[in-house]
Amino acid sequence: MPTSSTDLKATVKDGYDTIALSYHNWAAPRLTQKRTEYIERLGQLLPKGSKVLELGCGAGLPATQQLLDQGFEVIGVDISSSQLELAKDHVPAAQFMQGDMMAMEFTEGSFEAVTAFYSLFHLPRDEHGPMLKKMVGWLKPGGWLLFNLETKEDDQMLDDWMGVKMFWSSLGIEGNKQMLVEYGSGLTNVEDVVDKETVGRFEENFHWILASKKPLNISG
Ligand SMILES: C[S@@+](CC[C@H](N)C(=O)[O-])C[C@H]1O[C@@H](n2cnc3c(N)ncnc32)[C@H](O)[C@@H]1O
Repeated sequence: MPTSSTDLKATVKDGYDTIALSYHNWAAPRLTQKRTEYIERLGQLLPKGSKVLELGCGAGLPATQQLLDQGFEVIGVDISSSQLELAKDHVPAAQFMQGDMMAMEFTEGSFEAVTAFYSLFHLPRDEHGPMLKKMVGWLKPGGWLLFNLETKEDDQMLDDWMGVKMFWSSLGIEGNKQMLVEYGSGLTNVEDVVDKETVGRFEENFHWILASKKPLNISG
C-alpha cells in the first residue's frame, strides 16, 4: 500500500479516471436523501446567485445539478479528469477545475457556500483538518459549509473496488468532532448528524456536517 499523500491521491485519481462512467451509472440513480435534503436547505439559507464551491464534484449528477437548481453559481473541483469530462457534459452551466482540492487556491472569503459530498474521505486523514481550515477560509462571513465524512476511524485500501484500487480514510465520529474544534475556528451553528444509508447491498453510516462562518459583527 502506498503511504505518501501523493501516491494515495494518484491511486484515487487513477481509480476514478478508470471507472468514471461505470461509477456514474452505479451512483447517479442513488439519490441519497440526506444530500438532497441538505442541498435544499442551502437553497433556503442562501439567496439565488450565491457562489458555491463543490469539492470532489465527480460527474456532476445529481449534486452539482441540484446546486444549480437552487439558483447557485457553481464551481466544481475534482482530481479526476475523466469525472470532469462527464461533469462538463452533464452540467454545462457549472464551471469546473481539475486538481487536488488541497492544492486549490482561492481568495479568502470567495464563496457563500463550500460543499464536499463523499469526497473528503479520499484524503489521508491528517489532511482532513487542514482541508477544513482552507474551506472555512474560502467562505464569506455568514456563508455555509456542508460536507460528509465516514464514521469509523480507519484507513482503507481496497485492491478491487469496482475493478480498481481505491483509498479512503477517516478520523471516526469523535475524531471528526475534535477536528471541527481544532480546525473549524470561526464556525458557528455547527450541526453534525450521523445518517444511515443503503449503499448497494450494504448499509453505511455517514457523518454530515452543516455549519456557518460567523458574520463579522459577531465576536467570540
Ligand atoms: C465518491 S465520489 C463522489 C462524487 C460526488 N461528490 C457525488 O456526491 O456523487 C468522490 C469524488 O471525489 C474526487 N476526489 C477524490 N479525492 C480528491 C481530491 N484530493 N481532490 C479533488 N477531488 C477528489 C474523486 O475523483 C471523485 O470524483
